Amino acid sequence: MYNKKKLVVLTGAGMSVESGLSTFRGAGGMWGQHRVEDVATIEAWYRDKQKVLDFYNIRRKELLGVKPNLGHAVLVELEKDFDVKIITQNVDNLHEQAGSTHVLHLHGELMKVRSCGPGAEVYDLSPDNYETRLGDTCPKGYQLRPHIVWFGEAVPEMNIAIDIVEKADIFLIIGTSLQVYPAASLLRYVPAEVSVYMIDPNEVSANNREINIINKGAGEGMLELKEKLRKYL
Ligand code: OAD
Repeated sequence: MYNKKKLVVLTGAGMSVESGLSTFRGAGGMWGQHRVEDVATIEAWYRDKQKVLDFYNIRRKELLGVKPNLGHAVLVELEKDFDVKIITQNVDNLHEQAGSTHVLHLHGELMKVRSCGPGAEVYDLSPDNYETRLGDTCPKGYQLRPHIVWFGEAVPEMNIAIDIVEKADIFLIIGTSLQVYPAASLLRYVPAEVSVYMIDPNEVSANNREINIINKGAGEGMLELKEKLRKYL
């Protein structure tokens, strides 16, 4: 029995594009169609809870209509040879649906809701009962809100993510513009001697770090990366 090398993967919205979900920035991105201030901040929530709930009800409906893609599948395959730890900014559950076993969600999870009460208990939604409305409460009577980290809110899993990144043997970035902090700062915690790979069909800048860029979409890019990773076995 040998110790598998630790492959740490940071994923973003581009990971799910080939499944049919949209990115946030760039042409056709979510934030071109909805204002962050209207649907993804705590102020938006206090101003118009139903609007925010509706936004996430629609996102859930979209998620329920799509499946994991080739990129997700290759990440699962790599678990045979590597200790794969995924840190995702995505709120979809496509990594889990594909079969990845270590997935940390930095920005929350679409198929979960959370009590607005002091306990902030988290509850799973089911595919046949995924909508939340004003007046839907936890057993203690507090309104349920999306289990999403909104802009301006703390990222509770950040310290766990840093710990994972600091132990990486290989670091991979897929489908993120690296524009949203603190998630984007994880790159700074990758040990200097560790090789960093990035899969993205568009130009992405990551300052101050040598990066092996694979200029392809997630599916084809993951197939290419799988070949490149043979040298670590
Ligand atoms: P962005 O929309 O900022 O970036 C998506 C990236 O995916 C871009 O670099 C695209 O070039 C790339 N991309 C497009 N198609 C792709 C494909 N087929 N395969 C691989 N990559 C592709 O999304 P994120 O960086 O994930 O937060 O955004 C970070 C956070 O901002 C999100 O988690 C979300 C958003 O606001 C919250 O909602 C809290």
